[in-house]
Amino acid sequence: MTLLEAIYSRHSVRSYDETKEIEADKLDSILKLVEKINSESGLHIQAVLNEPKAFDSFLAHYGKFNGIKNYLVLIGKESDDLDELCGYYGEMLGLYIQSLGLNFCWVGLTYKKVADAYKIEKGEKLICVIPFGYGVNEGNPHKSKELNVLSNINDDSPAWFKEGVIAASLAPTAINQQKFYLELIDNKVKAVYFKGPYAKVDLGIIKYHFEIGSNKDTSIWL
Ligand SMILES: Cc1cc2nc3c(=O)[nH]c(=O)nc-3n(C[C@H](O)[C@H](O)[C@H](O)COP(=O)(O)O)c2cc1C
Repeated sequence: MTLLEAIYSRHSVRSYDETKEIEADKLDSILKLVEKINSESGLHIQAVLNEPKAFDSFLAHYGKFNGIKNYLVLIGKESDDLDELCGYYGEMLGLYIQSLGLNFCWVGLTYKKVADAYKIEKGEKLICVIPFGYGVNEGNPHKSKELNVLSNINDDSPAWFKEGVIAASLAPTAINQQKFYLELIDNKVKAVYFKGPYAKVDLGIIKYHFEIGSNKDTSIWL
């Protein structure tokens, strides 16, 4: 599955099949991507494997999470752009995982911190976690705001901009808030976020979706 196909088939999945192990070659390729992203971004993303406690609490079950023992922990040095960086690179990992035929879900709140399962160095902060594995289902499509609410799209917009906005509208956002706006200005795009929980993480996520959908790279951003 391509990353674009992954965007179209992805939905948050909260229940996983504990009996279905992730194949060694798939796991290995996920770990290699974590390594590559960390060296490229300076983030300290860690994969926690065979650890069921984080999603075995009242809070996690209340959030309908089940059967989770593998998850990514998005950690990095505290800075103004840490949230956006985690969003961008976390979604890069998520869509890669989806493209392997697995499922994932962003989680900011409904899990328990398990102190000895990963390392948070001095000056670092944990932003979100991403459980992954074989879902018991594929999740459900979210309700979306209209494309002309999320962007300045109109009948004359170039096809690449339209494809990018559609891909961004399909992205996961905290509590499905979709608090972002994409503005095409002279062949460049300005992406802004509005106040809301995890809105800067969402911004990184939607930027990655836009790049895949529009087939542009980071030079597209104003
Ligand atoms: C930054 C972020 C944090 C999230 N935190 C949680 C969470 O704590 N618990 C939860 O059940 N879902 C969480 N989600 C998943 C969103 O609820 C979900 O992405 C949104 O409702 C859209 O649905 P979809 O991902 O199926 O398209 C989070 C998503 C994002 C992007």
